[in-house]
Amino acid sequence: MFFGKPNKISYKTEDELLLIKKSGDLLGRVHGLLSENIKEGVSTKYLNKAAHDFIKDHHGVPSFLNYRGYPATLCTSINETVVHGIPGDEYLRDGDIISIDCGVLLDGFHADSAYTYTVGNISEEKHRLLKATKESLFEGIKNAIAGNRVGDISFSIQHYVEKRGYSVVRDLVGHGVGRYLHEEPEVPNFGKRGNGHKLLKGMVLAIEPMINIGRRDVYHLSDGWTVKTSDGKPSAHYEHTVAIMNGKPEILTTFKYIKGEVE
Ligand code: CO
Repeated sequence: MFFGKPNKISYKTEDELLLIKKSGDLLGRVHGLLSENIKEGVSTKYLNKAAHDFIKDHHGVPSFLNYRGYPATLCTSINETVVHGIPGDEYLRDGDIISIDCGVLLDGFHADSAYTYTVGNISEEKHRLLKATKESLFEGIKNAIAGNRVGDISFSIQHYVEKRGYSVVRDLVGHGVGRYLHEEPEVPNFGKRGNGHKLLKGMVLAIEPMINIGRRDVYHLSDGWTVKTSDGKPSAHYEHTVAIMNGKPEILTTFKYIKGEVE
């Protein structure tokens, strides 16, 4: 989900990383709020309004709203929708999975994070997809350290999910994030070890595996945003904003406010 701006990698200072972490904390609390509100019968429009009002009440700006004409605060992607589902009159049903992606701008810096939630009781098949996708995000993050390359992140995600029989969406990728929602470099969820940009201290990356149960192919709806699996099978999406450091990656967004999460 990269729109190529700006075309140079920006390296953040310690102070800037702290600001992104603050945006990330507010974003984490948005996810916490969403997790409390997700249940059968709730509309995606309702969730969007709750998130929008919460961000505004905390003096933040929703990063996605009006971004390239995007009409909402959240992307709400149910079941076979991969990403960029537009909130509306769609009601959650028992057994659904819903990927919610959100960005927050606070004090000049963006944080970007996505999580796939469950509604009521989901199938074992969906449960396994969610687990593998979330774990693949953390496999990618483990490799997000200075001295590695982008391809080390990409490879580790791809390897983790393909070993379990899932497929990696290729049309959309992770990205640098900071003063802009989308910065260099692109961070694909597939690739080869040792390829791509060198990771250096101060880079901040949004790592975001989008993983399908079935085939990797997707198509775009005529609304200009919604991306769905071509085979109609479910897809999951988790995303963290991560700072590259020497030794250990630092995750600047958080799932810790999400009901039922242990972090
Ligand atoms: Co992103």
